[in-house]
Amino acid sequence: MLVLGIETSCDETAAAVIEDGRRILSDVVLSQIDVHKEYGGVVPELASRKHVEAISFVIREALSGAGVEPEQLGGIGVTRGPGLIGSLLVGISAAKGMALALGKPLCGVNHLHGHLFAVFLERDDIHFPFVGLVVSGGHTSLYHVESPMEIQLIGRTRDDAAGEAFDKVAKLLGLGYPGGVVIERHAKGVDPGDLRFPRALMEKDSLDFSFSGLKTAVLRQAEEFFGRSRLNDAPGSFHALSIPSAGECVHEGVKLISAAFQDAVTDVLTTKGLRAAEMHKSEKLIVCGGVAANTALRERMIEEGLRKGIEAVFPAISLCTDNGAMIAARAEHLLSAGLSDDLNFSAKSRW
Ligand code: KG4
Ligand code: ZN
Repeated sequence: MLVLGIETSCDETAAAVIEDGRRILSDVVLSQIDVHKEYGGVVPELASRKHVEAISFVIREALSGAGVEPEQLGGIGVTRGPGLIGSLLVGISAAKGMALALGKPLCGVNHLHGHLFAVFLERDDIHFPFVGLVVSGGHTSLYHVESPMEIQLIGRTRDDAAGEAFDKVAKLLGLGYPGGVVIERHAKGVDPGDLRFPRALMEKDSLDFSFSGLKTAVLRQAEEFFGRSRLNDAPGSFHALSIPSAGECVHEGVKLISAAFQDAVTDVLTTKGLRAAEMHKSEKLIVCGGVAANTALRERMIEEGLRKGIEAVFPAISLCTDNGAMIAARAEHLLSAGLSDDLNFSAKSRW
């Protein structure tokens, strides 16, 4: 079956065509990063406008790149939520229009389930049940995936998501947006020495996460390194620090904080992810979402996993960050089980 997947939950307009749930025939992602960069984060109103401008082009490119006529599709999957409501509605409206015109089944897909199911596009040795960790800009959640239809949430963040913490810390250090990639670059090869940030909720039986204390600890350390006078009040509870960024002479403190922060996040995610796999006797731990693109996390998780007899499985980086193929992969499972939605469904900002 050929499935078209459409994703517009945040700042990427994406569409892909996959075949039989395994083969990616096309995967088009149009990022809005340059639009949001100057604001230091995603501006919802701008995001929906950019999706409106891009959606038809992106879908057409996905179909022509795959060499597929719309009539050949077996079904369409579209992200229903969670995400920015205005952005979600753009993808949903386009998908509904196509489904109606073509008379094809349509599935409203949970974006987080999409992240989890991206792994099936690369691996044919993933069997149910398994434990999955979704680490993205909006979520840090552990799932016990018993079957395609039984996906239990077994742990989640009580405050910030891991990706959100990367983004906020990068903003604090004046490194720009999005934060994950720049923090990773500044942390590369740096030994934080004695600088160690707190790890929250590490008690033995907890599968929940908390990253807001870590963010505050970073702020205090930045004050110590750079002096309070360099902190400017910014909207919200956080501060913006103006210091030279990449390319210029980067303050040693920026590198140390980046490395110690990345260590702390990596440590918590690795410990809890593997703990969840052990608790649920899962030989594999699927790690997905934007933060799963982080090399330090990938290396640490794989190495520690090996020691515990658990294989940490990371999709390719292009499948970790938001894309249409993962939405198509999830839709394929739903469509194969005979499930689809009527055209009355709406977007869900929370799910
Ligand atoms: O899954 P995703 O593309 O979008 C959401 O669904 O949120 O995740 C985006 C998040 C951002 O917070 C970004 O800073 C983070 O993933 N991210 C990274 C890296 N690349 C992206 N975090 C750490 N290291 C990276 N290399
Ligand atoms: Zn995502």
